[in-house]
Amino acid sequence: MSAVLVTSRSYAEYEAMFDLSELPGSVLDCCAGGASFTAEAAERGVDAVAVDPAYDLPPAELVDTVRRSLPATAGIVDEHAASFVWTWYGDPGRKDELRIQAADRFLQDVAVAPERYVAGSLPELPFEDERFDLVLCSHLLFTWADKYDQDWHLAALRELIRVSRSEVRIFPLVHQGAGQPVAYLPDLLEALPEVSSEFRKVPYEFQVGADQMLVLTR
Ligand SMILES: C[S@@+](CC[C@H](N)C(=O)[O-])C[C@H]1O[C@@H](n2cnc3c(N)ncnc32)[C@H](O)[C@@H]1O
Repeated sequence: MSAVLVTSRSYAEYEAMFDLSELPGSVLDCCAGGASFTAEAAERGVDAVAVDPAYDLPPAELVDTVRRSLPATAGIVDEHAASFVWTWYGDPGRKDELRIQAADRFLQDVAVAPERYVAGSLPELPFEDERFDLVLCSHLLFTWADKYDQDWHLAALRELIRVSRSEVRIFPLVHQGAGQPVAYLPDLLEALPEVSSEFRKVPYEFQVGADQMLVLTR
């Protein structure tokens, strides 16, 4: 299993990070971790699926892993305090509240609708070509560029594109912690001539300056 944190962002955070309004018929949250996006999108009638290697964990271990991510994330923010802004959240208490509610919602949904939560890892996902209208990727690619190299990122992008019918959205585009840009991002896009790419501003910022998502369109 990965050492990457299994965090639990809320639907409200996804809505802002990916500037979502109407959702299409089917959506994949790739590297969903403990996020409540899938549960809440399903509630809205969307064919929503979450994939993450953590879903292979025994249930009690998954609960523990998700719960432990909250203090771990707060630790990263404290360590790099100057690299974060609170305009979207307001204050740390509101952020914690959203994450706790999202973790509760996620853990509830995994228990009642386990078919929505598929164990799998980039760069090889267990889905057919063009399975989802929209594929979302929050806080794995680029965020963990200290752990995953350029070749891995290229393979992961190709895989996200493969399982999407029209669009892939990725946020954020910087390293975790201090939030420095990922130097090889332009090279990755150049290696993907089959898709059009756009940097689009979103109504969310937490890491200073990280207010753009990458939209890849087939
Ligand atoms: C920081 S969390 C983000 C979770 C969620 N998207 C959110 O925004 O709260 C990163 C997630 O990526 C998952 N992960 C790690 N390696 C992965 C891989 N190779 N493929 C897919 N997911 C992976 C981890 O298990 C973890 O749940």
